[in-house]
Amino acid sequence: MKSLFPNTIGIHARVLSAAILLVSATTMTMGYLGVTIINQFVTQRFNQRIDFMTQYLALNCELGILIDEQTLLKGLAANMLKENDITGVEIQDHTGKILVKEVRDIPGPFARVEKHVYLSQTEDNGEWMRRMTGSGDTNFIGKVRVTYSVQGIADLVVQMKTRFVYIALALTFLSWIIFYFISRSLVAPIIALAETARKVSLGNRSVRAASGNTPEIAKLADAFNNMLDSLAAGRKTLVRAYEKITRQEALAEVGKFSMMIAHEVKNPLAIIKSSLEMLKKDLQIPKENIPLTYAEEEIVRLNTLIEGFLIFSRPAKPKFTLVDLNRLTEQVLIGFEIQYASEELKLQYEIPQTPFEAEADFDLLSRGISNIIKNACEANDKKGIVDIGFNIQQNKWQLLITDQGPGISREERHKIFEPFFTTKATGTGLGLAFADQVVKAHGGSIGIQTPEAGGCRFCITLFSNTQERKIEVLEENDKNIDS
Ligand SMILES: Nc1ncnc2c1ncn2[C@@H]1O[C@H](COP(=O)(O)OP(=O)(O)OP(=O)(O)O)[C@@H](O)[C@H]1O
Ligand SMILES: [Mg+2]
Repeated sequence: MKSLFPNTIGIHARVLSAAILLVSATTMTMGYLGVTIINQFVTQRFNQRIDFMTQYLALNCELGILIDEQTLLKGLAANMLKENDITGVEIQDHTGKILVKEVRDIPGPFARVEKHVYLSQTEDNGEWMRRMTGSGDTNFIGKVRVTYSVQGIADLVVQMKTRFVYIALALTFLSWIIFYFISRSLVAPIIALAETARKVSLGNRSVRAASGNTPEIAKLADAFNNMLDSLAAGRKTLVRAYEKITRQEALAEVGKFSMMIAHEVKNPLAIIKSSLEMLKKDLQIPKENIPLTYAEEEIVRLNTLIEGFLIFSRPAKPKFTLVDLNRLTEQVLIGFEIQYASEELKLQYEIPQTPFEAEADFDLLSRGISNIIKNACEANDKKGIVDIGFNIQQNKWQLLITDQGPGISREERHKIFEPFFTTKATGTGLGLAFADQVVKAHGGSIGIQTPEAGGCRFCITLFSNTQERKIEVLEENDKNIDS
């Protein structure tokens, strides 16, 4: 259907012009009809009034004409002349002779009305009349003629018309103003919505549309905001996925390269180590020789690093046996207590008395859990308290490791499990990646929480039953990182 308005004209202008047209047409039609009807009515009533008064005068003149009583007739004419708009009164007898004529000066234009004076009907007045007038018409004895000005009524009509025009104009103007504000209040939220869309298109993705002042606009704004939210969420996921893919591709390359180097370095390192031992024996160098001890320590460190690379890139298949996870943790913790005995660090824990048995690879799981506890110990510069708690429910076992470190920012939470991500000068960035790999191989998960007191809490969840472990892991997927 072809639109009445060109496309360039907005809703506001359309509503306003339609309203102006409608209101003006209605007011003008109503005004015209009103003025015409009232004009006819008033004029008719005015003429009727004069007609009635003339008729009344004619009735009263009967006696004065019959006995030719000038004083009486004059009095009647003078009384009539006192009435508004009447400018002349003339009383004639049946021959047309003017008996009385009274005039006064008022502005015209003028109109005239005439009424005959008849004799009242009695039994013998026919004969008496014939004698008096000598005419055959027994009733007609004279006439009265009243001249009156129609200026007054014309003025009244003009005054009325003017009032009507003013009232119509005032009503039209008032309606325009009301329509203007209604239309503006309807259009303003749409303009605001368009402005929001413009801002979003310019790259400001945080803006959202205001909910508006009508349910329809609120619905529209809601739908618009939902659309923006889902777009933002989609974009976030896309950016994350893209980052992940890019990082994984880079990591795969770095990984391949590192594996090659690690593999190639491992053998010469073993040769250097055994050569050093041989040298020590042949030259009878004492055990406490400092440069040699340093060299040996560095070789061990290098070897551990390479082992780490190799373990991570070629993960060993877990050899499951029935393991008491509480004892496993206790052993790991004792190892740490010995390692950090000289530091100002306290490991706070209480091992549950009841064993919790699960199928696990003791060695792999110990190393995985160790990596997380090691991070917690390093988080606060090997000072303060690291709290290790247990949360055990039927087949579910949870280890909660809480430190007093700086915590982990939201952005970093998604990165820390990726291999080679580290913020430490001497870190490899493989600790958490390894731990994650091991825990997942055991059907469990690692979550991160932010305790109210600050720091960071890692939560390792494992299960005693393989079936349950699979179901729960499926449920926990994607939500292992709480916000
Ligand atoms: N408890 C923690 N508190 C704060 N940050 C942590 C914590 N645990 C891990 N991180 C962060 O995660 C990063 C990765 O940890 P991950 O164990 O994988 O490697 P790393 O500790 O840096 O190196 P390595 O384990 O070889 O010593 C760390 O560098 C650190 O920034
Ligand atoms: Mg670490």
